[in-house]
Order: sequence, then structure tokens, then C-alpha cells
Amino acid sequence: MSFAPSSPPSSTPSTARVMPTNVMNTPTAAPQGTAASTGAAAPPSTTSAANAPNTPGTEIRGRERQGSFGGSTRAKILKPFNTANIKILLLENVNETAVRALRDQGYQVETHAKALAEDVLIEKIKDVHCVGIRSKTKLTKKVLDAAEKLGVIGCFCIGTNQVDLEHAASKGIAVFNSPFSNSRSVAELVIAEIVLLSRQLGDRNIEMHQGIWSKVSANCYEIRGKTLGIVGYGHIGSQLSVLAESMGMRVYFHDVVPLMPLGTSKQVGSLDELLEISDFITLHVPETEDTKNMIGERELNKMKQGSFLINASRGTIVQIPALAKALRSGHIGGAAVDVFPKEPAANGKFFDSELIGCPNTLLTPHIGGSTEEAQSMIGVEVSQALIKFINNGTSIGAVNFPEVDLRAIRDEENSIRLCYTHANVPGVLLRITNILSDHNVDKQFSDSKGKIAYLMADISDVTPEQIQDIYRRVSETPTNIVTRVLY
Ligand SMILES: NC(=O)c1ccc[n+]([C@@H]2O[C@H](COP(=O)([O-])OP(=O)(O)OC[C@H]3O[C@@H](n4cnc5c(N)ncnc54)[C@H](O)[C@@H]3O)[C@@H](O)[C@H]2O)c1
Repeated sequence: MSFAPSSPPSSTPSTARVMPTNVMNTPTAAPQGTAASTGAAAPPSTTSAANAPNTPGTEIRGRERQGSFGGSTRAKILKPFNTANIKILLLENVNETAVRALRDQGYQVETHAKALAEDVLIEKIKDVHCVGIRSKTKLTKKVLDAAEKLGVIGCFCIGTNQVDLEHAASKGIAVFNSPFSNSRSVAELVIAEIVLLSRQLGDRNIEMHQGIWSKVSANCYEIRGKTLGIVGYGHIGSQLSVLAESMGMRVYFHDVVPLMPLGTSKQVGSLDELLEISDFITLHVPETEDTKNMIGERELNKMKQGSFLINASRGTIVQIPALAKALRSGHIGGAAVDVFPKEPAANGKFFDSELIGCPNTLLTPHIGGSTEEAQSMIGVEVSQALIKFINNGTSIGAVNFPEVDLRAIRDEENSIRLCYTHANVPGVLLRITNILSDHNVDKQFSDSKGKIAYLMADISDVTPEQIQDIYRRVSETPTNIVTRVLY
């Protein structure tokens, strides 16, 4: 098992320890340590909310909001290692917001503007605890097996198909991404498209580039007072609702769950009802078995004569041949499509669709979420998830891993947090309970996902020897994948 240390740490605390091979999952309690001079982790007692230099302010505020401690009890800032020993490899020009946040933690951050060739990646990844990628780097089984110390992966993008998620999970490697950082960018694009379609601007623009002057006002409309029908009232749909109302549109929406409408928008009972009352239909649903081919000939026929369709969700939601037919017949007055059932893998002259040449039809190459602001937000969101996982063990938001968090640990000298990733088989909790039975477990939570499970337990009043003992016994359980002790 590559992520675990080769041998359990010594039960005798040392004053001048050498950092263990894997600093992310090895307890480093060294009560009388002269850590700063040796490069080893500071002893537990030197770390507090007041003096931890690398603690992000958001962490402290987050904990205070949870109201997890009353009176003078403070949040303990978990600091299981000398952060300078954590090595992070960032590829594909990950946004500067992330580079800064990770460097501010004191981690060693190596950045590369491009994806690395597989053999170079295999060499580089051997030694790092965390890797940050975008969509071009493929983290295959072969690459992951070369990563001897890797504990966490950050996908600084929306998708995670480029990572072998199951294999990563089986090695106790959590994977984080940023699915919602670009919601505003998509909502703004849709607002622009509503205006463009309503004024036939796409066609006028093409004509002008061909030297054709065609000044028309027939079938061109203001959007004020028109009805926008939103299908899927999640991150993007709800954001769009507010923007559209501020431009004077009436907003109705359909969603599979009852949701609190924003502003004066209203939820309707069915998709059919929404199709029948709307001047514009815009789709913001995920790709599921239910949403695949959601808009076909029947649904297009239900839409008002001359109304408009916008799809910036997923390419499989709309049946393209049916839409092309409805546009050419004039039943649908125009469409804006940003996503397609088959999209070219690279930029270049590779795009083909039945929608090419349809009247008043705006085609864009899946750029709904592609803005500088979204990239910057992705950098912030993913780097914070990585920091929380490395420093606190929090796996909330991981795509391949059980999502576990505990409220803050009390700021007492001898309290620790045990993070145990293990095989999801019967009998594990009993074994762990037996190991911890002599100790004061303040709180504990565990969850499972597929073949793995993740347990977090906060334990107080433990001596450095007991910490070593807990670590040794837990990491030697037959179901162990990764054991970490944070203090
Ligand atoms: N074009 C782009 O560049 C781009 C960028 C970001 C997101 N997206 C896509 O936009 C879509 C929406 O993203 P989001 O972040 O708002 O998602 P979200 O998960 O926040 O919201 C989706 C909403 O759809 C609802 N829903 C699910 N199934 C439904 C159904 N059958 N009928 C009606 N409602 C249903 C859900 O209840 C939820 O409220 C996703 O498909 C996403 O992949 C595209």
C-alpha cells in the first residue's frame, strides 16, 4: 500500500526526529522536540489558534460559525506536521489564487504551465503529497501506482473523468473538484443570449460580416415583460432567475424538487406547463437518465410558436435533429446552444452539427463557464478543499470518497484527531472501538462509499506515548488503507 508509511513511527518520542517518509499520514507527536531547527513538526503544545502562522482565517471563522465551542474554549488548529514538508505539484497553469493559498500554508509548491508527459509525470508524482491538475492530465492507475505519498488530488475544473477515481479511492486518495464556481458565468451568458435571440443579433452579425446591410425590426422584441421558463432551479437556474427579473422578465421554473422561489419567480407543476407558458425556455439540469433527450419533438411542439430555446447544460438533454427541424420550420424562433452530444476534444475545425446554418441560432463551443473569474473562483475553492483535507482531515466535497467532517477539536494540549481510511467491511468499527475504549472519544463520525470507509474521531487526554500506540494499533489493522493522526 503506497500511501502508508513503510513502518509505524517509533514509540519513543525523539527530540530531533527525521521527518517520516510520508508526512501526511504519520503522527509526529514529539513532545520535547526542537522541531524548528530540525525541519520536523513542531510539538503539539506549541500550536494554538493564536500562534499558528499558516492557518487560514477562513478556517477559524468557519469553526466559529458552527458554534462548536462556548465560553473561552477555542478551536484547536490542527497541525500534524511541519507544513513546509508537504509537497504539492500543480500542473496545467492552475490559477494563481490557488498557488498563493497553498504557498501561504507553507507547503512546497511546484508549478508547471502545461501537462507533463506520462513518464515525466510518473517521476514527479512519486514524491508529492498532493497534485493539482486541470483536464489534460490523465491520472491513470499506472500513474497513481507510482505515487508513493499521494494523499489528495485537486481537479481545478468541473469534470473528474481524467482521474481513475475508484483506484484513487482504493488507495485512500481523495479527489476534489469545483462544480459550481462558474455558475455566475453561465447565468450571464444566458442573459446575453436571451437578448441576442430576441433581436436576431446572430444573423445580423453574420450578414454584416458578409457585407449585407439588413435593417429589420419585424419579430425583434425587448425582453422586458417576457416570460422566462427555467428548467432546473439549482446553482445556475436560481442565479439566472434573479438576473432575469432585474431586467423586467417574468420568471417561472420547473424542478423535480420543491424549491423556495427567489424574488417573484414561481415554480410550476410540470415541464409541459412551463413549455406552454414561456417565451424563452432555458435548460439547467444535470445529465441523468431522466434528463437525457428531455427536449424532443413532443416538447418542442408544446412550446409557443416563435419562442426560443437555450441549452447551456449538457449536450444530451436536447435532441438535436428535432431542434434543427423546429428551427427550420419557424416554430422555434431561435436557439442558443453551448453544449453538444459530441464535442471535439481539441480546438480546431472539428465541429459538425445539424444546427449549422439554422436561422437565428447561436452556437458556442461549451464556453458557458469559461471566464477569468470562474478560473479564479475554482482556484480558491479547490485549494481550500485541499488545505482542509491535508490539515484537518475534512473530506466534504470529495467526489470519490466518503464525506466526513467533525466540528472543531478543542484547543487542549493532549487532544488528537484520528483519520482512518479503511476497507468497507463488517467488524471494523468494533475493532476501532476496542482500540479507543480506554480513551476519551469526544466525538466520532464515519461514512462509507463503495469499497472504502472513512472514520474521524477526536480523542482528548492522550499522552504522546498513547498517541503513538493508537497510531500503531489502528494502522496495523488488516482493513487499514491510510491512518493519520492530527493534533
Ligand atoms: N455550459 C457550461 O459551460 C456549463 C458550466 C457549468 C455547468 N453546466 C451544466 O449546467 C447544468 C446545471 O448546473 P448547476 O450547477 O445549476 O446544477 P445544480 O445541480 O445546482 O442544479 C440542477 C437542478 O436541476 C434539478 N433537476 C434535476 N433533474 C431534473 C429534472 N429531471 N427535471 C427538472 N429539474 C431537475 C435539480 O433538482 C437541481 O435543482 C449541469 O448540467 C452542468 O453540467 C454547464
